[in-house]
Amino acid sequence: LKVVGRDSISVIKQRAAAWAPASISNLGPGFDVLGMAVDAWGDKIEAVLCNRPGVSISYAADSAWTGTTDPIQNTAGVSASKTLQVLGYEDGVEIIIHKNIAPGSGVGSSASSAVAAAWAVNALFGLPLSKQELVDAVLAGETVASGSVHGDNVIPSLFGGTVIVSAADPSVYRRIRVNDDLFISIILPSVQILTRAARAMLPENVPFQNAIRHASSLALLIDALKDGDWAAFGRHIMEDELVEPVRGQLLSCFEDVRGAALSAGAHGCALSGSGPAMFAVSESPDVAETVRSAMSSACEAGGIDATSIVTTANNEGVREWELPEIA
Ligand code: HSE
Repeated sequence: LKVVGRDSISVIKQRAAAWAPASISNLGPGFDVLGMAVDAWGDKIEAVLCNRPGVSISYAADSAWTGTTDPIQNTAGVSASKTLQVLGYEDGVEIIIHKNIAPGSGVGSSASSAVAAAWAVNALFGLPLSKQELVDAVLAGETVASGSVHGDNVIPSLFGGTVIVSAADPSVYRRIRVNDDLFISIILPSVQILTRAARAMLPENVPFQNAIRHASSLALLIDALKDGDWAAFGRHIMEDELVEPVRGQLLSCFEDVRGAALSAGAHGCALSGSGPAMFAVSESPDVAETVRSAMSSACEAGGIDATSIVTTANNEGVREWELPEIA
């Protein structure tokens, strides 16, 4: 086994694995700028050292979803390969994906795989790379999935909490820990919206006045988030004037679901990422459960099945997942 990148690196394990959380991104007016990691779901990835050079991909028998096994098209494959480059490791790694988050659902499915793959590879060597050192690798993984470099899913999945990321340079970010009194109801309508397509439909130019109102909503939202003022946070997540008015049309039950969430007591409700997932925020588990049920019923009344869950923010981000011993 050859390791040439860092003098201090040595192989610690032949097999390692990691779990990375799903994330809700944009949070209303924070298109490509804001994302929050959530505990509800996560992808697990195993990394196994092998003598074949490069990265090979397979899906575990318990994987709920499968996708491409081409390592240069697969988000986990690209992220793993970039991580190996940073480490300077020249032999190969097999990546085994346990995909739990539905692709195209709007809760950071590709990002979770990219992040878990990078951390699993890092764990083979005893985690010599910090999360900061893996930002470029996970951004590269996300880019193959969506066709653009945006960090509002991968960076929350890596670090946990809410992340504010620079749209101009996603390697610039700030992290905000989320108080534990925020409860998030999420529905996943059973339609698939691919991020790449949902980005292609956005306008190239927007009216100046809309941009100003949008900027003020984003600033107020971040202040509310830092204060844990969930009533204000909920109001501001519904003030996206640029993106959601366009994308909301992709989901026929969008307005009904939002109306149901608010009637059931949520402080606010918005699309998660490029949709079709929608999330609503509340301050108690009981209200959040009522909201979840109301959102789900409204979606189904519109003829679209949905799965739904109540969850909380994940403040830790990716973590190593201990593999059972092979008998
Ligand atoms: N900010 C991204 C978008 C998130 O809305 O297109 C989806 O990956």
